[in-house]
Amino acid sequence: MPTSILSDLKIRFSKAIIAAFGDEYANYDPAIAPSKDAKFGDYQCNAALGLTKRLKQKPQDVAAQIIANLISDNSINDIFEPPTIAGAGFINLKLKLSYLESQLAKMQKSDRLAIATVENSDRIIVDFSSPNIAKEMHVGHLRSTIIGDSIARILEFQGHQVLRLNHVGDWGTQFGMLITYLREVYPDALTKANAIAIGDLVELYRAAKKRFDEDADFKEISRAAVVELQAGGAEAKLAWQLLCEQSRREFQKIYDTLEIQLEERGESFYNTFLPDVITDLRATGLLQEDQGALCVFLEGFSNKDGQPLPLIVQKTDGGYNYATTDLAALRYRMSADKATRILYVTDIGQAGHFAQVFQVANRANWIPENVQVTHVPFGLVMGDDGKKFKTRSGDTVPLKSLLEEAIARARTDIESRNPEESDEFKQNVAEAVGLGAVKYADLSQNRTSNYIFSFDKMLALQGNTAPYMLYAYVRVKGIGRKGDIDFASLDIDAVRLTTEPEIVLAKHLLQFAEAIEAVAEELFPNRLCQYLFELSQKFNQFFEQCPVLQAEESERVSRLILCDITAKTLKLGLNLLGIHVLERM
Ligand code: ARG
Repeated sequence: MPTSILSDLKIRFSKAIIAAFGDEYANYDPAIAPSKDAKFGDYQCNAALGLTKRLKQKPQDVAAQIIANLISDNSINDIFEPPTIAGAGFINLKLKLSYLESQLAKMQKSDRLAIATVENSDRIIVDFSSPNIAKEMHVGHLRSTIIGDSIARILEFQGHQVLRLNHVGDWGTQFGMLITYLREVYPDALTKANAIAIGDLVELYRAAKKRFDEDADFKEISRAAVVELQAGGAEAKLAWQLLCEQSRREFQKIYDTLEIQLEERGESFYNTFLPDVITDLRATGLLQEDQGALCVFLEGFSNKDGQPLPLIVQKTDGGYNYATTDLAALRYRMSADKATRILYVTDIGQAGHFAQVFQVANRANWIPENVQVTHVPFGLVMGDDGKKFKTRSGDTVPLKSLLEEAIARARTDIESRNPEESDEFKQNVAEAVGLGAVKYADLSQNRTSNYIFSFDKMLALQGNTAPYMLYAYVRVKGIGRKGDIDFASLDIDAVRLTTEPEIVLAKHLLQFAEAIEAVAEELFPNRLCQYLFELSQKFNQFFEQCPVLQAEESERVSRLILCDITAKTLKLGLNLLGIHVLERM
C-alpha cells in the first residue's frame, strides 16, 4: 500500500505512461504535485508537456492518452472526481468529498492516523551526535543530535529498521597527548575512576594540547603513547577507558535530558579494521605513496597550486586518519550491519570530508548499487549578534547550562501565568516548553542555513515556535474538555464535510502522510514543522468560522472528529520531532 495519496498517484501515473507510450518510458517522472491553486483541483500531473517533444504530439493529446490508460478501477474512482485537462496538457485531480470523509473516519480510529508503513523496510543507519571524548559537547553536536534524532524517528515511524549510531571521537593522537600530560601532572586520573570532573578534563585537554604544540619532546612521548594504546598496552588502555567513561557519563546526561536513544560505537571500534582498508585499497590500484604517506589522489579536489589533493589514509608514522576510520566504518556498516542507506548528520564544514570518503569508496567499488550514502549537513549556530555562538567570555557555551536556561525561562513564564499550580505541574510544563523550544527552533529552520540561537525568539508565543504549537494542541484539547467529550465514542460514520474551512482542514490533515514522506526522502525536518504550523493556522480558521460545541448535532460530531484528528496529528507530528505535548499548560 502506498504511504500517501501523492505516492499512490506517482505509481498510478507511471503505470499509465508506460501503458500509453511503451516500456522506454519506464523511468519517466510522472511529475505529480499538489496543486498550488485550489481551482486546479488538489493534485496535478504535469508530465504531458515534457512528453510532447519526444512523442511529437500535442500536449492535450498526450494528456488524454495518459488519462485513458489510468487503470480506472474503483480504487481511483473512489478517491478522485474524473480527471480534467487544462492549459498545456495539465491533468487536474480533485479529491472526492466522500473519500475525504471516509479517510477521516479511518484516521480517527487509528493510532497512526491510518498512515501505512512502508512495504520494503530498509536497514538504515543514522550517524549523529558523535561528540569527542575529553572535549565538551558543543552546539554543533546539539544540532546533530536534534536533527539526527528527528530523522531517525521519522524513518522508524515509516517502519524502517534504524540503527542510531554515535560515532564518538574516542581514538587518535589526542589520547596519547592527554595520557602523557596526565602522567606528568595528575597520574591518579589515569588509574582511579572519577578522579577528574569533565570540566577539569576539558581544561587538562587544553593544557595538554598547548604542550603538544610547543614542546617537541612532549610530542615525541605522546606519539609513543598513542602507539602503546593502539598496540593494546594495558596501562594506556586503562587510562583511555577511564577518560572515555568520564566523558560518556557527561554526554549521557544531555541525552537523558533530551530523551535521545543512541548506540555508542566510537572510532576505536573500527581500529582492527583499519589495516584491511589499506590492503584492499592497494589491491584496487588506487593507493599511492606520497612523501612516505599512503594516500589516494582525489578527483575534483585540488590544492592551492592546482595539484590534485591527496586523501591520506596512513601517515608516515603508520598512524591512521579520521578518513581511514570513516572508510572502515562505511565498509562495516554495509557488510556487517547490512545497511542500505547510511546518513551522516554533521555540520556543513565536513562536507568535503564526506565527499572525499564517498569518492574513494566509490572508486574502490565498495558501495554496491543498492546502497545510498548521504551526508546530511547543517549550518552554524550563531549568537544574537550574528557571530559564532559563544559565551560573553568567548568560550563555547556548555550545553547543559544552555538547556537549563531554556527550562528556567519557561519556568519563569509559567510561574507568572499560573502561580497557583503545583510545583510538579509547573516543572513538567517548563521542561516540555523549554526543551521543546530548543528542539523546535533548530528543526524549523532549513538545516543548511546558519541559525541564530535566541531564547527570546524560540520561547515566543507567536510565530512558528514550540510554545505556539504546544498551545495549539492545548486549545484543541480544551474544546473536548469543555464539552466533556468522549472522543472514542463518537460515531465515525457521521463525518460530513459541508463548509469550506472544514474541507480545507480535512485536506490538510490528509497531507500529513506526504509531509512525513518528504522528510524521509529529502531529510529536511523543517518541512514537517511547516506542515504543523500550517495545520494550526487552518485549524484556527476552521474554529473561527465553524461553531463546534454549539453546532447542530449532525455537524457537531463531524466537527469534533476534525478537532480530534487535528489534536492527534499535532501530537504525533511533534513527537516525530522529539517534542512532548502537554494536555494543559
Ligand atoms: N566526532 C566528529 C566531530 O565532532 C563527528 C563524527 C561524525 N561521523 C562520522 N562518521 N565521521 O566533528
